[in-house]
Amino acid sequence: MLKSIFIILISITSSLIFFFFPSPPKSFYHSLFLSPSVTSNVSIANHLYTLTRRPHVAGTPQNSETADYVLNTFSSYSLKSHIVTYHVSLTYPLSRSLILTPQQPSPPTKFDLIQKTYEGDPYAEVASEVMPTFHGFAKSGTASGPIVYVNYGRVEDYERLQNIGVNVSGSIVLAKYGQIYRGDIVRNAYEAGAIGAVLYTDRKDYGSGEKWFPEARGMPPTGVQVGSVYTGLGDPTTPGWASVEECERKSVEEVEGSGDVPLIPSLPVSWADGENILGAVGGQVADDDWQGGGDLIYHIGPGPGFLNLSYKGENVIAQIHNVFAVIEGEEEPESFPDAGTESTAILCRFVLLGNHRDAWTFGAVDPNSGTAALLEIAERLWKLQKIGWKPRRTIILCNWDAEEYGLIGSTEWVEENREMLASRVVAYLNVDSAVSGPGFHAAATPQLDELLKQSAQKVQDPDNSSQTIYESWAGSAKSPMIERLGGGGSDYAAFLQHVGIPAVDLFYGGGYPVYHSMYDDYVWMEKFGDPMFQRHVAVGSLWGLMALRLADDKFLPFDYLAYAKELQKSTKDLEGDLTDTGVSLVPMFKAIGKLRDAGSNINGLIKGIEEKQGWKSMWKTDSLQVREVNDRLMMAERAFTDRDGLFERQWYKHLIYGPSKHNDYGSKSFPGINDAIENARKLNSSKSWHSVQHEVYRVSRAVAHAALVLNGKMT
Ligand SMILES: *[C@@H]1O[C@H](CO)[C@@H](O)[C@H](O)[C@H]1NC(C)=O
Ligand SMILES: *[C@@H]1O[C@H](CO)[C@@H](O)[C@H](O)[C@H]1NC(C)=O
Ligand SMILES: *[C@@H]1O[C@H](CO)[C@@H](O)[C@H](O)[C@H]1NC(C)=O
Ligand SMILES: *[C@@H]1O[C@H](CO)[C@@H](O)[C@H](O)[C@H]1NC(C)=O
Ligand SMILES: *[C@@H]1O[C@H](CO)[C@@H](O)[C@H](O)[C@H]1NC(C)=O
Repeated sequence: MLKSIFIILISITSSLIFFFFPSPPKSFYHSLFLSPSVTSNVSIANHLYTLTRRPHVAGTPQNSETADYVLNTFSSYSLKSHIVTYHVSLTYPLSRSLILTPQQPSPPTKFDLIQKTYEGDPYAEVASEVMPTFHGFAKSGTASGPIVYVNYGRVEDYERLQNIGVNVSGSIVLAKYGQIYRGDIVRNAYEAGAIGAVLYTDRKDYGSGEKWFPEARGMPPTGVQVGSVYTGLGDPTTPGWASVEECERKSVEEVEGSGDVPLIPSLPVSWADGENILGAVGGQVADDDWQGGGDLIYHIGPGPGFLNLSYKGENVIAQIHNVFAVIEGEEEPESFPDAGTESTAILCRFVLLGNHRDAWTFGAVDPNSGTAALLEIAERLWKLQKIGWKPRRTIILCNWDAEEYGLIGSTEWVEENREMLASRVVAYLNVDSAVSGPGFHAAATPQLDELLKQSAQKVQDPDNSSQTIYESWAGSAKSPMIERLGGGGSDYAAFLQHVGIPAVDLFYGGGYPVYHSMYDDYVWMEKFGDPMFQRHVAVGSLWGLMALRLADDKFLPFDYLAYAKELQKSTKDLEGDLTDTGVSLVPMFKAIGKLRDAGSNINGLIKGIEEKQGWKSMWKTDSLQVREVNDRLMMAERAFTDRDGLFERQWYKHLIYGPSKHNDYGSKSFPGINDAIENARKLNSSKSWHSVQHEVYRVSRAVAHAALVLNGKMT
């Protein structure tokens, strides 16, 4: 009822506005986009429920069905939509076995490796469609050996083991999930000499006290975090090019030689199984910070417990489906009188919103909370279009497939369309798992910081109606408020790290206990993640509002002065690491100074144009001048990329944001410099410190290059 009154009011207001202005200002539509008459938590809940009825792993018929659902939903909102299919290499489990032989004379235990349903589980029937627990792209093979407990399996954990004289060579490591990417856990184990790896979810890290799902939000005893152990991104058989039908492919041997797929077998297990295995490990008692959440005291080993691990997977070339909806921009066609239909394409600029659809199981949090929010944004934009809104720039809604295996759907599309994207996309806005609980989080390239904050100031906090998201976010006292996008965690990677497109990533909640397990379903979401679906609405509001500003603002809302400040801060942080090494950061500080000047010049230029035009701008703008300034803003981020890419990881072109070598989740700035420092610390040779200096020069040149692009001048 309330809602229909709202709609009537809105209609009256909009007719009035239409009466006075032939087209209302864009900001009118932006406010409307956030209003309760346009948003719908009910739509979101319905989309989520439908998308998560069955498990839908990439490449399966169930996931083709979800692609059709997304396509049909887009079409039902009168959006131009289409599917782009790729033929990509994926792996599925064929057989698994894990046997623990404790100290004699106890008999061996064969783990059943099954996640159990509970009484009244509405998904009990479709639970048989849940894929057996495994690691995507795991090595097929068997391994038998004594167990060593390695904490989180990080490089520093192995250093500690070495210091206390524990050699993992020839053993099977037991590692906890939670601090680094699972592919890096397996790789670190291999590099330390282990022959197999078992990864489990410790109660301490995944919040299972006395109670767990369905009574509480924690992981049940048999819950298993599955996931990929591939450390590259995109289809491993088509590095750098798109996986279209009948394309060139690397052989299995070549893929194994790339270093991006594991060379030892691994299996994920539940916390109940993990504790069972730990009960058979003796030797030294682990330090306090290596202990877990149960009563058991953890020892390090090796042995006497012994594991026989076996895994066999099948490699398939599967079809995956990215779904797109396009809302064409008008881009002031009247200002380009000579622009016929053919040349308008050249004028196109794109704003992209992306989320993936494939899930390891039901995917209520990961990723379909984001998909549901994307579909509701489509509905809101349709409502705006119905009353006359048209974006200035084209908006594309993207729904990716096979993200879980290694960001495959988005990466193949970016590889196929690289030059088009590089010359036309102003920003890529990503949401993966939109909601897993309360608390807003965001990561962005720094020129978008200000837009992100301004947008958060416009959206109501879903958990406290007397404040905005911005207020609760700032009040939660996290420092820094905005994270950076150096990690490989989601589909922004190819856009930012390969092509140099400004990007953001948004979510509510963060880490959650049933992550990648069978219990990530609609019931969990409704009970614990977002009972009213208002956090979903808030993500949709913020995500969509940023897109609307990027699509509609005359001048792109980018602030490169903020970028320069951020780089200055990161470089200062580096300084501490480089005392007494002979490495100079002077070239960096000089280049950052140039970027700061360029950022402040272009901000001033825009202000000047706006002031000069003032009221006139409602009717007439010098479009070519606007376009020229916007192109400089758009292209400046591209200048941070380098043709040669990161050392020994050439696909990564961005010299400021990219993953660090030993942890794909790591989100450091200057990955090339960091890797060189790590190497130099190990070798401490003048040559190795010289290559740190070389990396510093490379980044400095990229920053200076960005300043030139912003200035719009050639030397
Ligand atoms: C660990 O053991 C292996 C095989 O027994 C041996 O080759 C290796 O050198 C040892 N590593 C260390 C650090 O002692
Ligand atoms: C485990 O593997 C070892 C070595 O291959 C073998 O001797 C042993 O019988 C196996 N144990 C079980 C329980 O299969
Ligand atoms: C809600 O926000 C208001 C205004 O910021 C604040 O005073 C109040 O403490 C908040 N309430 C809760 C429950 O956090
Ligand atoms: C939508 O939000 C309203 C108001 O917060 C709430 O009463 C309703 O239960 C929500 N609907 C769903 C499906 O969660
Ligand atoms: C590195 O080498 C320099 C001289 O070559 C030496 O002074 C310094 O102590 C070494 N640092 C470390 C950590 O070994």
